[in-house]
Amino acid sequence: MATVLAIETSCDETSAAIVKNREVLSNVVVSQIATHRPYGGVVPEIASRRHLETINEAIALAIAEAGLEWPQIDGIAATCAPGLVGALLVGLTAAKTLAMFYQKPFLGVHHLEGHIYASYLTEPDLKPPFLCLLVSGGHTSLIHVKDCGIYETLGQTRDDAAGEAFDKVARLLKLGYPGGPVIDKLAKEGDPKAFPLPEGNISLPEGGYHPYDSSFSGLKTAVMRLVKKLERETGELPQKDIAASFQETVARGLTKRAIACALNYGLSTIVIGGGVAANSSLRQHLKEAAKKRNLQVLFPPLRFCTDNAAMIACAAADHLSRGHRSPLTLGATSRMAIASVMDLYI
Ligand code: KG4
Ligand code: ZN
Repeated sequence: MATVLAIETSCDETSAAIVKNREVLSNVVVSQIATHRPYGGVVPEIASRRHLETINEAIALAIAEAGLEWPQIDGIAATCAPGLVGALLVGLTAAKTLAMFYQKPFLGVHHLEGHIYASYLTEPDLKPPFLCLLVSGGHTSLIHVKDCGIYETLGQTRDDAAGEAFDKVARLLKLGYPGGPVIDKLAKEGDPKAFPLPEGNISLPEGGYHPYDSSFSGLKTAVMRLVKKLERETGELPQKDIAASFQETVARGLTKRAIACALNYGLSTIVIGGGVAANSSLRQHLKEAAKKRNLQVLFPPLRFCTDNAAMIACAAADHLSRGHRSPLTLGATSRMAIASVMDLYI
């Protein structure tokens, strides 16, 4: 059993948490959404500065809420890749400093491995192998989870992430940022069959489509053309019907690929991670399709789906209990394949 303090600052949430094995003792998350909203997206420089202003208090609060003293903490971890480098550096530097000062093992954690470990926080008995559908503002991946640190990406987006597509389409529809929640809400009153849109399949040179990869840029362009056409021809923007049609297309495509992947690889459980896991249409499509195919589908609670340090601490606790450690020379990296996770440890 390892107790780990972890810090997450890869994008626009400053978070510090303490996890004992798979039990969350504290999870402080300070969102920067309001700061970035006027810009319609995350501004990296502002994100780094806000992390710097918030990090010390978040760490102090996480320790106070857990009711622990430093000797009870076995290791200190931080997200080190992938993400905004300036933002990552804030959490990484804080974690290394604490590790050095308190003479504790230090662990860098891959952000996507953290999203996978979010599922263990509410399903502590979950065991690999399983499939993780990770759908966030920065990632859209189908990951074969084989063991701690052992992953294979079976499918991914070739361009925009699913959440990014929601945010871009929300902008086209003149809705706020972030786009996912507002599109989800509007779509409930719209007709999902109103406008047929492309599902974002990837053509293969030998014919047919890639079974697990996707593309969202074509879908976004199709919505853009539709918006322009409707405005030109009718002078109106049927936001609800466009939102519902777009959401239905994304949910249908993601579900189709995730189910095919699970079946083809003989994986009976699909775990969902990332902010788009909140989407009501995706949840409904996946649940229905999984039931038909006798698969188990797990949606961790939203507080663990969106970025948080508890999921990072959970991953680090597992690595620590297996004797894995990171060197204090470990740097922040904007891009890193999840298959390279074990490169972070000595
Ligand atoms: O995982 P997350 O909090 O941050 C990243 O690591 O990116 O995901 C944020 C993304 C945003 O793009 C947001 O629009 C999307 O998740 N999102 C949703 C919903 N709630 C949040 N997308 C669709 N439907 C939702 N209900
Ligand atoms: Zn994330």
